[in-house]
Amino acid sequence: MTHSTDSAALDGLELAEPHLGNVLSASGLDAEYVRAERNTLYLRDENGQEIPVLDFVGGFGSLILGHNHPEIVAYAKELLDAGTPVHAQFSRHPYANRAAAGLNRIVQRETGTDEPYYAVFANTGAEAVEAAVKHAEFDRFRKLSALREEIEAHGEAARAAVLAGEAAVADGRDIEDLLAEAARHNAGQLSRPPLFLTPEGSFHGKLVGSVQLTHNPAFRLPFQALAAQARFVPLDQPEQIAKIVEGERGVLLDPVVEGGSVTVAERAFPVFCAFVLEPVQGEGGINVVSEEFAREVQRVCAEIDCPVVVDEIQSGMGRTGAFLASSHTGLRGDYYTLAKSLGGGIAKTSVTLIRASRYCKDFELVHSSTFAKDAFSTLIAIKVLELLEADGGAAYRTVTERGERLREALEEVREEFPGVLKEVRGKGLMLGVEFHDQSGSASEIIAGVSQSGFLGYAVAGHLLRAHRLRLFPTGSAFNTLRLEPSLYLTDEEIGRLRTGLRGVCALLRDADGEALVQP
Ligand code: F0G
Repeated sequence: MTHSTDSAALDGLELAEPHLGNVLSASGLDAEYVRAERNTLYLRDENGQEIPVLDFVGGFGSLILGHNHPEIVAYAKELLDAGTPVHAQFSRHPYANRAAAGLNRIVQRETGTDEPYYAVFANTGAEAVEAAVKHAEFDRFRKLSALREEIEAHGEAARAAVLAGEAAVADGRDIEDLLAEAARHNAGQLSRPPLFLTPEGSFHGKLVGSVQLTHNPAFRLPFQALAAQARFVPLDQPEQIAKIVEGERGVLLDPVVEGGSVTVAERAFPVFCAFVLEPVQGEGGINVVSEEFAREVQRVCAEIDCPVVVDEIQSGMGRTGAFLASSHTGLRGDYYTLAKSLGGGIAKTSVTLIRASRYCKDFELVHSSTFAKDAFSTLIAIKVLELLEADGGAAYRTVTERGERLREALEEVREEFPGVLKEVRGKGLMLGVEFHDQSGSASEIIAGVSQSGFLGYAVAGHLLRAHRLRLFPTGSAFNTLRLEPSLYLTDEEIGRLRTGLRGVCALLRDADGEALVQP
């Protein structure tokens, strides 16, 4: 087979994940956007006219300050005009330190701690999660190595004491048999891979390690052989956490000499590397973690000395009316991960914050990334923090107030169409509206899309075509539309959403499948 080198032929080909494009076009979602500001994306129609679309997807929750915030854009231009060195790896980095200090000030205020958090910057959300996971495993590995060495030294001491006639094995057994048996048992435990704990419905990324903490089996299972596994806990059954921990419990056998006799003590084997959770699940369909669940996470993790990684990649940066969504539930992280809005919709940046008392300084020697901690993105992050914190945190209050108005509008439509809309969930400007399953619809079209898991996409396609509203279901909760607009959401925009949602609910109620899917 020969390949054409004709570049004109190549220009006509769709080569950047074309199949995904086909899925979008089936729902009428394959619009090309040419401009963006605040909560509006503009597409160009066939006559070259710009058509405004009200965007509730918001870069999958990356735009708490909206598309192309004028102050951030101006600052980005200023940095580029000034020739700011974007790349100066392995040098002093006062900008990254300032970003870390800014993050610490806010996190300490919200969580009421004065312990600092060290910052490991990265580029994407999944990368920040993987840095947290790697750091937690680095820490577990160190502790395990120390424990193993201690047990080996105890074994040597026991052997020496018996040989010197200073001690005897308590039950009269041969010391070599006892040591061999303990070594065999310990080798079995030490060969166990680490485990993670995370709630069902979690989404922590799609890279090799993080995808194993993402609950959706379609994303996770094909790659299971590549990385350590998680045990998933139902969000409404916090009592399962202790049960899972008990089921996986392991011990190392530690020969100890005491009062002239050698006995075997049991030392807990730290099989759990970390508990990783979102305070408000995003991709899983907007599920708020209860205070009860958070308390149980904290209790069990303290008991087994397992670090808690609070993934605030989607829920953080003010999205729920506080900088950290976990502040509402009292959930405290040994680690926090942030991304999305940290880059103000312009830079691509993320960070893992690690509590000083858990921090392994040698991690800095074994983990790095070319693009991480660069001047451009960390300076933009500082600007974002300034905007959120301005006027005594006016932005957080605005998110709370706008979120309440948006929620009221959604509830209003739900009350009007109780057979179509099942539930409104979330906090601040991180809301989800769940549709009832429509598999039993009198319309074959509606029943069909519902049965194949495409109801959310069909609804989204209709909202875009008929109402110029952009909303998506999540990849793991097909019947839930996710709303994550910026804090600049106006009453007029909420009104447009209410109208569009009413329209589509009426079509579903009236089983008008033709109108739902008509182009
Ligand atoms: N953690 C959370 C809580 C997320 O919501 C996401 C991404 C990630 C990690 C991974 O970040 O994509 O930058 O690597 N969430 C998007 C979503 C994709 O649809 O909710 P990433």
